[in-house]
Amino acid sequence: MKKTDILHEGKAKVIYATDSPKHVILAFKDDASAYFGIKKSSIQNKGILSNKISEIIFTHLAKNGVKTHFIQRLNDREQLCLRTTPLPLEFIVRNVIAGSLSRRLDIKEGTVPQNTIFEICLKNDLLRDPMINRTHVTAIGITNDETLDKIKEIIQQVNAIMVPFFKSANINLIDFKLEFGVDAQGEILLIDEISPETARLWECDSQKILDSDLFRRDLGNVEESYTDILNRLQTNI
Ligand code: CDP
Repeated sequence: MKKTDILHEGKAKVIYATDSPKHVILAFKDDASAYFGIKKSSIQNKGILSNKISEIIFTHLAKNGVKTHFIQRLNDREQLCLRTTPLPLEFIVRNVIAGSLSRRLDIKEGTVPQNTIFEICLKNDLLRDPMINRTHVTAIGITNDETLDKIKEIIQQVNAIMVPFFKSANINLIDFKLEFGVDAQGEILLIDEISPETARLWECDSQKILDSDLFRRDLGNVEESYTDILNRLQTNI
């Protein structure tokens, strides 16, 4: 399959159309950014490591019955995926309070909430991805309640698969972001990536931060940590 036009260039990936209308190629870059582009850098091999980590996670989810866009990794930086119409939404799952939620509600990072927290954000860099709720989503015509119900079910399924998967690598899945798209048949597919770029991952017991907060907060070597995560997940499968 050959890459044709760039469909979308994001902060960490380029999405290419291909000579097949049903497929896209995702290319993972080493560019790192945080706080909506205020902090920018390049981290050697980040794209390669995120590509491989996301491959392992999407493959594990598919094995456990989750429908995703992922088909196969093509090389170090690229993967072949099914083309969808992406919903302009980010779904965040929080098993432990951290990051923006900790700041917003003034609750200490690391606090375990009494139930899993689900958030929806509108994907819009200019507006800084504002948090919205289901009635906003339907009111502005992004999608309907039936699709949101189905997505919630998939999100819960994904979380139930991922928490023990990471735990067996001695990693606590603190929170993560999911995106969804609709394929030509109207099927809802999990899209984008799941990696330390889109999930907070803390080592169990030591609470050591392993994810992109290392870059955001200048806490340590990102390449080393992502390599460690990849090695742990590889021995886990
Ligand atoms: O990470 P930050 O404090 O900016 O935002 P958050 O709302 O606490 O993020 C929750 C989780 O979603 C973290 O694992 C983020 O890495 C992830 N996320 C993401 O991947 N992309 C975004 N645009 C926003 C959050």
